[in-house]
Amino acid sequence: MNQDDTKPNIKNEESAGIPKGLLVPFELVGGKLSEVDEFIRAQAHAFDPGVEGYISYVCEISGKRIRPALSILAGGACGQAGRPQVKIGTVIELVHLATLVHDDIMDGAQLRREMPTVSAKWGSTLSVLLGDCLFARALEMASEFEDNTISQRVSSSASAVCQGEILQTQRRFDLNLTHEEYFRIIGMKTGSLFATATELGARLAGADQPTQENLRDFGMKVGIAYQVYDDCLDLVGKEELAGKTLRTDLAKGKLTLPVLNLIASSTESQREKLNKHLLLQEPIDVDTLAGIADYDGSIDQATATGKEILAEADRHLECLPETEYCDGLRQVTGYLGSLLDTCLS
Ligand code: IPE
Ligand code: IPE
Ligand code: MG
Ligand code: MG
Repeated sequence: MNQDDTKPNIKNEESAGIPKGLLVPFELVGGKLSEVDEFIRAQAHAFDPGVEGYISYVCEISGKRIRPALSILAGGACGQAGRPQVKIGTVIELVHLATLVHDDIMDGAQLRREMPTVSAKWGSTLSVLLGDCLFARALEMASEFEDNTISQRVSSSASAVCQGEILQTQRRFDLNLTHEEYFRIIGMKTGSLFATATELGARLAGADQPTQENLRDFGMKVGIAYQVYDDCLDLVGKEELAGKTLRTDLAKGKLTLPVLNLIASSTESQREKLNKHLLLQEPIDVDTLAGIADYDGSIDQATATGKEILAEADRHLECLPETEYCDGLRQVTGYLGSLLDTCLS
């Protein structure tokens, strides 16, 4: 490998960095998020010099850092936003990075965080192994906490993410997928890591059991709503703004909430038409969908569902004292709500 090949040619921070709406809650934890960034970058040195360059490529391109921000905010809301929360945020972000590397192979995606995906650059073989290295490093770091529950929760959420991706793959092109099954899958593949981020942020701050559980439920719901948003974005978003490859869900046969809504609202003959595409495992594009039933209505319905889930999430914060951190958590759900609102505009 050419050494230069692993240089990420970073242009993030400002462009792919924190979106405007997250500036307020993230401002509160901005200093801590810089520590997370440093911590993540430093992980490359834990690898063999021959491997380090690949890890650096992945670790130096910063995403939105939503999960670490949630760990730190949850910790702060329970009395501590310090080094333990920075560390658990870093561990969770490394698991997230591993899942993205693997997800991009499966989706055949070319772009991630405004840069070529690892699989586009070096192919799937190397990417599978690179994702494994990131998973393993995250688990190694999680085991450094004295409290065994930390590594147990990180491991089980990493496992849940992978199992969610497996179930999703099994149910590709399956017109019988129910809304309930969809929510279970996204709870596993996305909700579980958000839930662990908030629960462990609180646990490390010394929160009592009921508070940890409330924060876990909060994170789970935020993660589910975030995936609903992302699933709408895949259909109607702009790649230049998202910084990643879109329109892969339908092409790969993933039936997401807006599509399930569309199926549920279509007539018998519309459903037959859709079924034909699905049975032939033909890629269905947005134009095909738009000609089948009330496409915009299905997206609207999905975004309304996402907002209801966010309102449920907020209710789990009622057990917390009113602090700027608790307010920061509410601002995150407020921001995600506004993202859902602007999906179709
Ligand atoms: C992308 O997550 C994968 C989903 C769960 C939708 P993010 O949108 O948090 O990705 P980054 O970390 O900001 O790149
Ligand atoms: C989220 O699903 C991926 C994981 C939780 C691993 P997506 O496939 O929708 O994520 P993006 O859209 O590629 O970021
Ligand atoms: Mg994907
Ligand atoms: Mg997506």
